[in-house]
Amino acid sequence: MIVNKTYTLPADYAPGFTGGTYKAFQVMQADATKQGIHLEIISGFRSYETQRNTYNGWVNRYGKEYADTISARPGHSEHQSGLAMDVNSLKFAFAETKEGRWLAENCWKYGFVIRYPEGKEDITGYQYEPWHIRYLGKELAKKVYDSGLCLEEYFGITSQY
Ligand code: DAL
Ligand code: ZN
Repeated sequence: MIVNKTYTLPADYAPGFTGGTYKAFQVMQADATKQGIHLEIISGFRSYETQRNTYNGWVNRYGKEYADTISARPGHSEHQSGLAMDVNSLKFAFAETKEGRWLAENCWKYGFVIRYPEGKEDITGYQYEPWHIRYLGKELAKKVYDSGLCLEEYFGITSQY
């Protein structure tokens, strides 16, 4: 499943975490813990309504143009798909912490990718989010990770309103 600025979900799609996403996180979290790395989900599934409130909050704070680079409009958030989550911190500095580095280097082994990579902002449609991971399953996650491409490039699709 692809959810981005081009591809939407209906407002009533509210599955919670789906397709092994939460289980995969638990396995990753347990392995990380053994290596002294603390991982926690700070935002997981978000309903259409929740996303609307989140997005509107950013619009009120920063205006629509900037908000669109950091937050998805309702129906366009991967969080609504049940396949994505934010881990530990919503700060860019997370990328340079030991947890952030561990996540970037290891999450593919558990079926996740960093969904909005640095340098791919024009393609994903969003600023770098070192904390936002998307579950793809192990096989596809490895392929995408090895390719060095973001998901839009990998599938040859757009992310545009
Ligand atoms: N921050 C991501 C793009 C979202 O709102 O789904
Ligand atoms: Zn996120």
